[in-house]
Amino acid sequence: MLVNLQDILKDAYRNHYAVGSFNGYNYETFKGIIDAGAETQKPVILAFGAKYLQNMSLETAYALAKSLGEGSAAPVCLHLDHCSDLATVFRAIRAGFGSVMYDGSELPFAENVKNTAAVCRVAHACGVTVEAELGCLAAGEHSHEGSATSVQVYTEPALAKQFVEMTQVDALAVSIGTVHGLYQAAPLLRLDILEQINRLIAVPLVLHGGSGLPEQDILACIARGIAKINVNTEISVYAVQQTTGLLAAQQPHFSEVSLNQIGYVKDIVKKYIAFSYKEGNNG
Ligand code: 13P
Repeated sequence: MLVNLQDILKDAYRNHYAVGSFNGYNYETFKGIIDAGAETQKPVILAFGAKYLQNMSLETAYALAKSLGEGSAAPVCLHLDHCSDLATVFRAIRAGFGSVMYDGSELPFAENVKNTAAVCRVAHACGVTVEAELGCLAAGEHSHEGSATSVQVYTEPALAKQFVEMTQVDALAVSIGTVHGLYQAAPLLRLDILEQINRLIAVPLVLHGGSGLPEQDILACIARGIAKINVNTEISVYAVQQTTGLLAAQQPHFSEVSLNQIGYVKDIVKKYIAFSYKEGNNG
């Protein structure tokens, strides 16, 4: 069934686990993500990034998510990922998305607050959940998110508290050392910053840049308030590698390529579902 983000995030936050948020932009990714949730009986967040509007319109994304998600054995939330354009955010709400991320992280604080608060007023009136971001993630290898020039700006805990109070946002993406894309060196997480933020604010926190993050880091973040973990690059890198191998070995029918690709997406999604729902996340 299709749900809004609040429905699944509140339980995760309260019970110290995280829900995986996976980027989808075509039939194979949508189907792989939703099937992985159904097969593991866990909720999944299907994140359609504003970056992928050339692949699929918002309305098509909603129609496909509804068609595949309504029949699924596990809850599915269709979420708009990283969108800095207010008109697109409002269109996603109108199209039926259960959750939107307004990304004003590259704006001055006051402007980010003003725009996020405006999104919250409209979204909440429509029963839609809002995620926003404070601080800025750097871009690693193969990154397809954020801007290529973005540098790491850590989230300031005191500002995060102010931001949540002023905007009434439902979930906050924080910058604590993860990067979008694959890591070129071992990630240096600032768990101390995450701990301070978690002590000051009472909304679920979101970890972007999940690809390649070691399991123990994921669990340490979950123990400090992270209730949503975003994964994109690793799904893409793995699916492209596997597809290349498949095509080198044989010349399959196009329909078989598609079926195999659904399986590749499922493999990675299930790996992160297994990390995120581990019992005893006490860091
Ligand atoms: P990765 O591509 O590093 O997994 O990051 C995904 C993400 O944060 C989507 O918003």
